[in-house]
Amino acid sequence: MEIRRADSQDYGALAALTELEGWNYSVQDFSDMQATGCTTTFVAVGEGRIKGMITVMDYGRVGWISNMLVEKASRGKKLGGDLLEEGIKALGEKQTITLFAYMDAKRFYLRHGFRCDRDFPLVRFIGGRKGSAREGGSIEEVFAMDEKCFGFSRRGLLRVLMGKGRTLLPLSGAGYAIVRPDPREALVGPVVAEEKGSGMDLLYAGFNMLGAGSLAVVPDGKIDGVEEVIRVSRLFLGERPSTDFARVFAFAGLEFG
Ligand SMILES: CC(C)(COP(=O)(O)OP(=O)(O)OC[C@H]1O[C@@H](n2cnc3c(N)ncnc32)[C@H](O)[C@@H]1OP(=O)(O)O)[C@@H](O)C(=O)NCCC(=O)NCCS
Repeated sequence: MEIRRADSQDYGALAALTELEGWNYSVQDFSDMQATGCTTTFVAVGEGRIKGMITVMDYGRVGWISNMLVEKASRGKKLGGDLLEEGIKALGEKQTITLFAYMDAKRFYLRHGFRCDRDFPLVRFIGGRKGSAREGGSIEEVFAMDEKCFGFSRRGLLRVLMGKGRTLLPLSGAGYAIVRPDPREALVGPVVAEEKGSGMDLLYAGFNMLGAGSLAVVPDGKIDGVEEVIRVSRLFLGERPSTDFARVFAFAGLEFG
């Protein structure tokens, strides 16, 4: 089995692999990840095909792991373990390496030294709550606010997410929300704000813009107008991730943290 870096020629096969798991990434999604300038995807290749993948995101002091996937027929043969170790090695010295794990996959990561931080729900908007926001603002303000709230810089990622969607600002005070009207997975996030009222206003303004069925990974699922879809666990290697939960109202999504 060979593990190597993926290139754009692989994106079709990677999208097909994710489709089998119901993740349904498109070739464009992989191009977008590439365009952030901070992601690397590794693939495990055997018998002339791609059998597994992992994506690592280099956010400076912090590394993020995503897209950990092995085709069903090849599971349980340490392929996932080898990909994970390769990804961790590629990230190099980091203060923290973090990921969102499905509950079924938690044990796999714990065996590779990860520890549990806390759980977060992916929620679906069902309606019934309005929000308020305006559009505009400077990209530099978004970068600064994001770094303040999540504790690391991820400019390349934010630039791509903002380019794909719309950026909302609170009616007063600092903050922002990115709203992505993807037909396969309409998502609100990140959402950050200086105070809770405007943070929730931004979140609901985003949900209403995308409509019922849109999704967000939120710190607290006990909020109006949503139902929980799944729960994920934030795991980490190294130092516990620092997130300012007084100011964070949604994450960038399951794959970006
Ligand atoms: C998680 C996953 C990548 C592990 O790959 P793998 O090649 O089977 O990994 P390894 O052979 O190194 O380790 C296998 C271990 O993972 C466990 N595992 C974790 N999640 C699993 C899953 N969804 N399906 C099957 N096994 C899983 C197995 O039980 C096994 O543990 P055991 O040896 O104690 O029985 C693979 O199971 C997978 O692609 N799962 C579906 C996608 C997924 O959930 N990805 C994680 C996203 S957070």
